[in-house]
Amino acid sequence: MKTALPRPAHAAVLTAVVAAGIATATPPVRAETWSYKEIADALHSVMESDRTVYTRLIVNRLQNEEKVIKASEHWKDDKALVLPAQMFRYGSEMVAEKGAKFSYSLISEWPVNKQNAPRTDVEKEGLKAIAAKPGQPFYKEETLGGKKYFTAVYPDRAVAKACISCHNDHKDSPRKDFKMGEVMGGVVVRLPM
Ligand code: HEC
Repeated sequence: MKTALPRPAHAAVLTAVVAAGIATATPPVRAETWSYKEIADALHSVMESDRTVYTRLIVNRLQNEEKVIKASEHWKDDKALVLPAQMFRYGSEMVAEKGAKFSYSLISEWPVNKQNAPRTDVEKEGLKAIAAKPGQPFYKEETLGGKKYFTAVYPDRAVAKACISCHNDHKDSPRKDFKMGEVMGGVVVRLPM
């Protein structure tokens, strides 16, 4: 009278356990079919979305539209919002602290903060390329310190009034004529090959 009924269920559980074991023991197989370009594009789409949401829903709304609170470089002393670029940099610094394999940064040919000027030849070439052909990312391999990297540069655009008003009015900005939608700089995503 021990029916066969529990068996399939048991087998199914066992299969699931074995499958789970395999799944944790081996890296996800399908990830190996992702190209460097696809990985960089995926990482960038998250960065760009978070950056746009923060700028539009927090900074632009509260500072420019509702005039509730300002965004300031000296946010702690001023009890103000963190700037979008600082939000981005703090995130990338935390990712680096965690020892992630990739790195990313926000740079520009017209930087308010000179630290954000392009450093490598590929960064310089990438910024020129995305300004000349807005909407198209730039990809190139580069060797730094003897290591090979896949480097992608994506256009960073003025997606809200707050972007252009702040940069055009900033005393340290080398450029004062940014317009809505224009490329203001680039996001660099760098993957070791
Ligand atoms: C309230 C002022 C303010 C707003 C709003 C703002 N920025 Fe900035 N931005 C700055 C400052 C200041 C820096 C330099 C921050 C640092 O110390 O790294 C900066 C940095 C940057 C950089 C890196 C190069 C540089 O200039 O140092 C880019 C690119 C950039 N911003 C684009 C944008 C875009 C696009 C937006 C809107 C989505 C935006 N910014 C919104 C003030 C602002």
